[in-house]
Amino acid sequence: MQVLRVLNSSFNQHGAALIASLLRAKPNANLVIATGNTPMGVYDELAKLKLQGELDSSSLHAFQLDAYADVPLSDPRSLQGWSRRSFVEPLGLAEKQFTPLIGYSDNHERACQSYHDAVIKAGGYDLAILGLGPNGHLGFNEPPSSKTSTTRVISLTEESLISNAVYWGRGNVPTQALTAGMDLLLAAKQILLLVTGKHKYEILQKTLYGAITPEVPSSYLQASQHVMVLADEAALGS
Ligand code: GLP
Repeated sequence: MQVLRVLNSSFNQHGAALIASLLRAKPNANLVIATGNTPMGVYDELAKLKLQGELDSSSLHAFQLDAYADVPLSDPRSLQGWSRRSFVEPLGLAEKQFTPLIGYSDNHERACQSYHDAVIKAGGYDLAILGLGPNGHLGFNEPPSSKTSTTRVISLTEESLISNAVYWGRGNVPTQALTAGMDLLLAAKQILLLVTGKHKYEILQKTLYGAITPEVPSSYLQASQHVMVLADEAALGS
C-alpha cells in the first residue's frame, strides 16, 4: 500500500493524473467508479484532460460501484444517475462503455449476479476508484464485510444513513443498497482510494494502521500490494 499525501488544492489534479496515466498504459481499462463527494473534482479534472486532448476515453469501460435499492433512475438519489452525470457523460462514454449495477429491478439477487458475471467476463477491474465511508465501508460493503463478500444487497448501517443524509435529507435515505462485493474490489489490479477532510482522519488511521477486520472493511486494503491511497493533509493529519 502506498500513501500519497497531497495538498488539498492539488488533490483533484493528482487524482486525475494517476487515472490518466493508467489509461495511457491501458486505454481499454475496466474502471469501477465511486460516487460520493470525494471523487467529483477528480472526475472534473479528467473531463478537462479529455477536452484538452490529453486523455482518450474511447475504449475504457466504467462499472457502477453501488446502488440504492428500489430507487429508479429518474430519482435524483439514483447512484446510476450520479455515475452517469459525473463520469459517463463528461467523458463522452458510449452506452456500451458503461455497466450499471441495477438497483431498481424486481430481482436484486439476479441483478447482483449479472453484474458480477459482467465484471468477471470483462476480466475484472483494472482500476477501482474508491471513496472511504465514515465507518470504513468501500462501496456499500458495510461493516461487517469480509474480504470475500460478494456483490449483494445490504442493509445500510445507522452511520451510513446519517452520513448519506447530507445528500438526501434525514429520513429520506434508502435503507438498503446493492454493492459490488469486496471479492471483486480487492481483486482489482489497482485500487485508488481517495480521501479528503478532517472528518476522515480517524477512519483513515484505522484503514491504514488498524487491525485488519471485517468491522473496518477498508482495512483489507493493507494486505494488498496494489493500493494507492491519495489523501489530503487534513485526512492524514499533520
Ligand atoms: C458513500 C458511498 C461510497 C462513497 C463513500 C464516501 O456512502 N456508498 O461509494 O465512496 O460513502 O463518500 P464521500 O466521498 O462523499 O465521503
